[in-house]
Amino acid sequence: MATLSNKRILVGVTGGIAAYKAADLIRRLRERGAEVRVVMTQAASRFITPLTLQAISGHPVHSEFLDTGAETAMGHIELARWADLVLVAPAGADFLARLAQGRADDLLATLCLATKSPVAVAPAMNQQMWANASTQNNLISLKKRGVTFWGPDSGSQACGETGPGRMLEPAELAEHAAALFQTGSLDGLQIMVTAGPTWEPIDPVRGLSNRSSGKMGYAVAQAAMEAGAQVILVSGPTTLVDPDRIQTLRVATAQQMHDTVHTHIHPIDIFIGVAAVADYRPIQTAARKIKKSDASLSLELVPNPDILASVAALDPAPYTVGFAAETNDLEAHARKKLEAKKLDLIAANPVGDRHSGFESDLNQLTLIDQHSLTPLPLQTKSRLARELISEIAQRYHEKNTTQNTRPAHRQ
Ligand code: PMT
Repeated sequence: MATLSNKRILVGVTGGIAAYKAADLIRRLRERGAEVRVVMTQAASRFITPLTLQAISGHPVHSEFLDTGAETAMGHIELARWADLVLVAPAGADFLARLAQGRADDLLATLCLATKSPVAVAPAMNQQMWANASTQNNLISLKKRGVTFWGPDSGSQACGETGPGRMLEPAELAEHAAALFQTGSLDGLQIMVTAGPTWEPIDPVRGLSNRSSGKMGYAVAQAAMEAGAQVILVSGPTTLVDPDRIQTLRVATAQQMHDTVHTHIHPIDIFIGVAAVADYRPIQTAARKIKKSDASLSLELVPNPDILASVAALDPAPYTVGFAAETNDLEAHARKKLEAKKLDLIAANPVGDRHSGFESDLNQLTLIDQHSLTPLPLQTKSRLARELISEIAQRYHEKNTTQNTRPAHRQ
């Protein structure tokens, strides 16, 4: 059964006889691991009580803009941002018409306008209303705007007629919702990602670092979480906010990153080193700001621990993925790192121009392992991260199937 681990689904319930099925739908979404919040129209509450849906979803039910309690706990814009999917089930003819017109005359319609996440509707109405040209025009215009239609089904209706207009069964809707998020499952796995630069202090105000923004590593952590994994992100200093639903551990130096990684490495299944770790640090950090003088100044550097190699050398080791930032001879240098650090996979990216790699919103990767070379073309870091995670998931599962065991460290 495809799961909905870590997914947040806002179920919208509109008025109609099928509203009673919303209770079963919410139960099935939660069984698959989703967190569910409910918004009802006023008409819906004549068919099923908010109290029932509150008990089944485990959260207060929202219906008005200014609900005392529910609305103060989470405002409507916040709810729209919170949802990974807005699923309106049942969606009556009147609601589809209001949605097609882009109206914001109640909480549910407003949320559908305000969300950036996918909106799916499960129509439910009399078969003649469904067939009516107005409804069909609304359907065409909503589909053009990216609204997904699940159903309706055809069959006997509460009004005694037969034809298309029945809401899909809750089990089918839950299956559609799960399929929407399928990315190559990392469900139930624990993943650690390092991201950002490290900061190696020279004195209290100066240090050695690099141009890593953390964008690539954070996108990889986000994609792993969306694929169902429990994710720990070990981040060097960045200006990015801690991502939602990911345990973020902040560090500064390479040594701190090394120690934090090793404190949390068991029972990690997959380790992905995206951080641009400083290879060297000053042998000493001055306790006070170094004063300027006319004399030249030498800085003695000592090597930092190699975090990635130290993880790959563990026995048992997680599936270990490294990144390689290369200005030239990308494949040859990346292959050397794959072998020297004994990695399962390396993701090589060209760096040195501003269109990809460090700081940019775009990147491209060449994935190299013992048996294959897979280019992932230039695209946004979030999209690229999703492709990367899907490639990693596939290889991880293949490796564990070949070995025909659970990973040794999880036994
Ligand atoms: O953060 P962004 O601005 O989005 O930029 C993304 C990125 C360019 C930093 C990222 O895509 C990337 O390439 N990360 C790896 C950068 C790097 O340090 O590459 P490297 O070739 O020097 O290191 C190889 C691997 O060893 C990396 O996985 C690195 O995390 C790891 N390493 C390196 C040195 C060290 N002491 N410990 C390590 O674990």
